[in-house]
Amino acid sequence: MMKFVAAAAKPFDVPTIVSLNTIMIDGTGMCGGCRVKTRDGFRFVCVDGPEFDAHKVHWNNLLTRMAFYRSEEHESMERWREGHKCNLESAVADGVK
Ligand code: FES
Repeated sequence: MMKFVAAAAKPFDVPTIVSLNTIMIDGTGMCGGCRVKTRDGFRFVCVDGPEFDAHKVHWNNLLTRMAFYRSEEHESMERWREGHKCNLESAVADGVK
Protein backbone atom coordinates (compact mmCIF):
# COMPACT_ATOMS: atom_id res chain seq x y z
CA MET A 1 0.00 0.00 0.00
CA MET A 2 2.80 2.45 0.84
CA LYS A 3 4.24 1.97 -2.62
CA PHE A 4 0.96 3.12 -4.16
CA VAL A 5 0.52 6.02 -1.74
CA ALA A 6 3.99 7.17 -2.76
CA ALA A 7 3.08 6.78 -6.43
CA ALA A 8 -0.16 8.76 -5.92
CA ALA A 9 1.63 11.59 -4.11
CA LYS A 10 4.57 11.83 -6.49
CA PRO A 11 2.85 13.70 -9.38
CA PHE A 12 1.69 16.39 -6.91
CA ASP A 13 5.17 16.71 -5.42
CA VAL A 14 3.82 15.91 -1.95
CA PRO A 15 6.57 15.05 0.54
CA THR A 16 5.76 11.52 1.71
CA ILE A 17 7.26 9.66 4.63
CA VAL A 18 6.69 5.93 5.02
CA SER A 19 7.31 3.69 8.00
CA LEU A 20 8.78 0.42 6.76
CA ASN A 21 8.16 -2.90 8.46
CA THR A 22 10.79 -5.18 7.00
CA ILE A 23 12.13 -8.54 8.09
CA MET A 24 14.30 -7.97 11.16
CA ILE A 25 16.65 -10.39 12.82
CA ASP A 26 19.03 -8.69 15.26
CA GLY A 27 17.78 -5.10 15.18
CA THR A 28 21.32 -3.74 15.50
CA GLY A 29 22.34 -3.02 11.92
CA MET A 30 24.68 -6.00 11.73
CA CYS A 31 22.69 -8.81 10.07
CA GLY A 32 21.39 -6.96 7.00
CA GLY A 33 17.99 -8.60 7.23
CA CYS A 34 16.19 -5.27 7.14
CA ARG A 35 18.28 -3.77 4.33
CA VAL A 36 16.35 -1.47 2.01
CA LYS A 37 17.59 0.01 -1.24
CA THR A 38 17.03 3.75 -1.61
CA ARG A 39 18.20 6.45 -3.98
CA ASP A 40 20.72 7.38 -1.27
CA GLY A 41 22.11 3.82 -1.19
CA PHE A 42 21.35 0.87 1.04
CA ARG A 43 19.88 1.63 4.45
CA PHE A 44 18.95 -0.50 7.44
CA VAL A 45 15.41 -0.07 8.68
CA CYS A 46 16.37 -0.99 12.25
CA VAL A 47 18.99 1.74 12.68
CA ASP A 48 18.35 4.23 9.85
CA GLY A 49 14.54 4.11 9.98
CA PRO A 50 11.91 2.97 10.16
CA GLU A 51 10.78 6.22 8.49
CA PHE A 52 12.05 6.98 5.00
CA ASP A 53 11.30 9.36 2.18
CA ALA A 54 8.81 7.30 0.15
CA HIS A 55 10.03 8.77 -3.11
CA LYS A 56 13.54 7.46 -2.49
CA VAL A 57 12.62 3.86 -1.68
CA HIS A 58 13.26 1.28 -4.39
CA TRP A 59 9.87 -0.37 -3.96
CA ASN A 60 10.24 -3.32 -6.31
CA ASN A 61 13.45 -4.36 -4.58
CA LEU A 62 11.82 -4.02 -1.16
CA LEU A 63 8.75 -6.03 -2.13
CA THR A 64 10.92 -8.78 -3.58
CA ARG A 65 12.90 -8.97 -0.35
CA MET A 66 9.71 -8.98 1.73
CA ALA A 67 8.44 -12.00 -0.23
CA PHE A 68 11.66 -13.97 0.14
CA TYR A 69 10.41 -16.15 3.04
CA ARG A 70 6.76 -16.26 1.99
CA SER A 71 6.62 -20.05 1.59
CA GLU A 72 8.23 -20.59 5.02
CA GLU A 73 5.83 -18.07 6.59
CA HIS A 74 2.90 -19.86 4.97
CA GLU A 75 4.15 -23.24 6.18
CA SER A 76 4.60 -21.88 9.70
CA MET A 77 1.11 -20.40 9.70
CA GLU A 78 -0.34 -23.72 8.59
CA ARG A 79 1.43 -25.53 11.43
CA TRP A 80 0.13 -22.94 13.89
CA ARG A 81 -3.43 -23.38 12.61
CA GLU A 82 -3.14 -27.16 12.97
CA GLY A 83 -2.53 -26.68 16.65
CA HIS A 84 0.20 -24.67 18.22
CA LYS A 85 2.05 -26.39 21.05
CA CYS A 86 4.25 -24.14 23.14
CA ASN A 87 7.38 -26.01 24.29
CA LEU A 88 7.85 -23.59 27.20
CA GLU A 89 4.33 -24.22 28.53
CA SER A 90 4.89 -27.98 28.17
CA ALA A 91 8.16 -27.78 30.07
CA VAL A 92 6.54 -25.81 32.90
CA ALA A 93 3.62 -28.28 33.01
CA ASP A 94 6.16 -31.12 33.27
CA GLY A 95 7.81 -29.42 36.23
CA VAL A 96 11.00 -28.35 34.48
CA LYS A 97 12.43 -25.20 35.99
S1 FES B 1 17.58 -6.21 11.69
FE1 FES B 1 19.60 -6.78 11.28
S2 FES B 1 20.45 -5.10 10.25
FE2 FES B 1 18.46 -4.47 10.78
